[in-house]
Amino acid sequence: MTQRTFSIIKPDAVQRNLQGAILKMIQKAGLRVVAMKMIHMTKKQAEGFYAVHKGKSFFDSLTDFMCSGPVVVSVLEGPDAISTYRKVMGATNPASADEGTIRRAYALDIEKNSVHGSDAPETAAEEIAYFFNQLEIVG
Ligand code: CMP
Repeated sequence: MTQRTFSIIKPDAVQRNLQGAILKMIQKAGLRVVAMKMIHMTKKQAEGFYAVHKGKSFFDSLTDFMCSGPVVVSVLEGPDAISTYRKVMGATNPASADEGTIRRAYALDIEKNSVHGSDAPETAAEEIAYFFNQLEIVG
């Protein structure tokens, strides 16, 4: 089933100039970029995006990190895009991520884990709408 998911290449990866290397892994997995831009989030935008984690021990540190530098947000499309991208990303904690995954290759730790991807169709729709309007999504 053709599906869309939302992706962030996080500040730790952009800072190390890894956008191209990460996109190569995403595209190799059969996902197509149908929207993309580079942004620098405010603390409020990061808090809004991660609102589901509000109250967790890592919330403040995570939202500080996410607005510490530019990120690349994108919409990816392909067969079972949500699960396909989650497989390509690997486990949240890079110490548990499989060989060949983005996080195994590039993540620094459980917070600075290089990429984000939606976990379900409902969150994908919400996350896409948080950063993109319909005119910015092509293909
Ligand atoms: P992400 O997939 O973007 O979703 C929530 C983020 O919180 C996660 O990746 C990590 O960057 C960050 N995080 C920090 N600590 C933890 C933790 N203990 N468990 C889960 N996520 C964490």
